Amino acid sequence: MINIGLIGFGYWGPNLARNFFLNPDLQLCAVCDAAADRLEAVSCQYPDINLYCDADDIFSDSAIDVIAIATPVSTHFELAQKSLQSGRHVWIEKPMTQTVAHAEQLIELAARKNKVLMVDHTFVYTGAVRKIKDIIEQGDLGSLIYYDSTRVNLGLFQQDVNVIWDLAPHDLSILGYLMPFEKQAVSATGSHYYGNGIIPKSLVTIYMQDNIIAHINVSWLAPVKIRQTLIGGSDKMILYDDSQPSEKVKVYDKGVDLNFSKEELYHLKVQYRVGDMYAPKIEDHEALALETSHFADCLLHGKEPLTGGQAGLEVVQVLVASQQSLKNRGAPVKIN
Ligand SMILES: NC(=O)c1ccc[n+]([C@@H]2O[C@H](COP(=O)([O-])OP(=O)(O)OC[C@H]3O[C@@H](n4cnc5c(N)ncnc54)[C@H](O)[C@@H]3O)[C@@H](O)[C@H]2O)c1
Repeated sequence: MINIGLIGFGYWGPNLARNFFLNPDLQLCAVCDAAADRLEAVSCQYPDINLYCDADDIFSDSAIDVIAIATPVSTHFELAQKSLQSGRHVWIEKPMTQTVAHAEQLIELAARKNKVLMVDHTFVYTGAVRKIKDIIEQGDLGSLIYYDSTRVNLGLFQQDVNVIWDLAPHDLSILGYLMPFEKQAVSATGSHYYGNGIIPKSLVTIYMQDNIIAHINVSWLAPVKIRQTLIGGSDKMILYDDSQPSEKVKVYDKGVDLNFSKEELYHLKVQYRVGDMYAPKIEDHEALALETSHFADCLLHGKEPLTGGQAGLEVVQVLVASQQSLKNRGAPVKIN
C-alpha cells in the first residue's frame, strides 16, 4: 500500500480523494486544508484519516509516501518543492506552476530525488481523447493540419488567474498529447472588462512546426456551455464534443483537394470530398480512475508518468507566452 496525503479539499480535491480512496494500491491517509469547514467535510466522508490545517503537518507525517496538491496555482511550487525535498512523490494539479523556471526546478528536483512527479492533465485520460489518439496513430486523418477548440461557459470567475490559466490547460494538455509537434510561437488576445485586471475571454493561437496551427477559444462569459474541438487532417476530420452524453467523437470523411496543373500554373482546382461520418465506440471510464491507476503503476514500478513534469512544463510555457502576448494585443511570443 502506498500512503497518500492530499493538500486542498476545495472544488477539485474531493474528486482526487475519492479516486485515491477507491484505488486498491493507494491508501488515502491524510487530508490538509487551511479552511476549517473543508476539514469538517473531509471528516464526514473519511472519518478514519488524519486531518491537518497546516501543510507543514503533512510534511512531518512520516507515514505519508506521496503528496497530492490540489490548491490554487500560486501555491503549487512551494508545496511541491517542500514535498519533494521531504522525500515524497508528488501529484500536482494543472497548471503545474506559475513560471517556467519553477516547473523546470520541480522537474530537476524530482529527478535528483528519484521521485515520481505527476501532473494532473485529466483530459488525457478520458476515453474520448484516447480514442482520438488511436485514430491519429492509425493514420486515418492523414497529415494533421489544425486543432481548433471552443471551451466557453458562464463563470466560474477565478480571483487569482485569468481565463487562459483556468481553462486553456485542458486544451494544451490534449494538444500536447494528440499533436506533439514543436510549438514555435503564441499569440493571445483578450481584454478585461470589469476593471479587476482579470481577463474573462481570450483567443489563443499556437503556431507549430510545418504550418500546423491551434486556436483555443476560452471564456467565462458565454451564455451556454460549449466544449467542442475540431481536429483537421488532410484525409479526415474529427469533431470532439465533450458536452454530448454519447457519440462524443465523430470522424468525418471530408476534406479539400487542391490541384495546380503545370500548364495552368495560376489555375487552382479545388475539389471537395464529402464522404461518410462515423462515431467510434468510446471506453466508458472515469478519467481520474484511470489516471490514479496509472499513477499507482508509476509509483510501484518506477515508471515515468504519461503526464509528468515535462508535459506540465510544456503547458506552462504556452501559458506564460500567452500572458506576455496579451499585454501586446496578440503580438506573437516565441516559445523556447
Ligand atoms: N484537473 C482538473 O480537471 C481540475 C479541475 C478543477 C481544478 N483543478 C485544479 O485544482 C486546483 C485547485 O482548484 P479548486 O478549484 O479545487 O480550488 P478551490 O479554491 O476550490 O480549493 C482549494 C482548496 O485549497 C485550500 N488551500 C489553499 N491553500 C492552501 C494551503 N497552503 N494549505 C492548505 N490548504 C490550502 C483552500 O482552503 C481550498 O479549500 C487548481 O490548481 C486548479 O487548476 C483541476
